[in-house]
Amino acid sequence: MSSQPPPDGVTVIDHPLVQVKLTQLRDAQTGSREFRARLNELSTLLVFEATRDLATRPALIQTPLAPYEGRALARPVIVAPILRAGLGLVEGMLRLLPHVSVAHIGMFRDEQTHRPETYYFKAPAHLAEADVLLVDPMLATGWSATGAVAQLKAAGATSVRFVCIVSCPEGLAQLRGAHPDVHIFTAAIDPGLDARAYIVPGLGDAGDRYFGTT
Ligand code: URA
Repeated sequence: MSSQPPPDGVTVIDHPLVQVKLTQLRDAQTGSREFRARLNELSTLLVFEATRDLATRPALIQTPLAPYEGRALARPVIVAPILRAGLGLVEGMLRLLPHVSVAHIGMFRDEQTHRPETYYFKAPAHLAEADVLLVDPMLATGWSATGAVAQLKAAGATSVRFVCIVSCPEGLAQLRGAHPDVHIFTAAIDPGLDARAYIVPGLGDAGDRYFGTT
């Protein structure tokens, strides 16, 4: 792990449990079943940190003994996975946010140009009032995330944060450069990309490993 401070607008979640589970994800010996389990657990831990500063409002309830003024989230939350690999983060996030809506953004990477192609976009009507958690395990070139944020904004989103497991300087610079208002939460910043635009050391193809399609 780098000892450099993260770039502006980027939070590296270096909790020991996150780093231990990420190491298991990175391990090429980890099969699909364990990969899914660890990714689910990691996404729960990441969403806990990524929602740390969400606004709350007073909520008056009644305990068995007395009235009590507690807190409720001030705005709805939407989890928006970038298909396909982003789906691997949804279950673990919904464990902490069981009542939220899920948007879907279908993108695939053209293996020649490494640029994203969108084939599906579906978001709930309350996008403009919501805090959107755009999720994808890998922030590699950053082009998919940049395109997904642009689609969300075009559909009315006003508050987007991006949550990933592994990122690299190229992807962070691309996404932050295009959308400086989007805060990025990541468990790791790896050194860079290989010639196929895979993160190195990374963890390989997150979608293939999660869905067992290697
Ligand atoms: N997508 C992946 O699944 N892995 C990478 O390293 C880069 C993009």
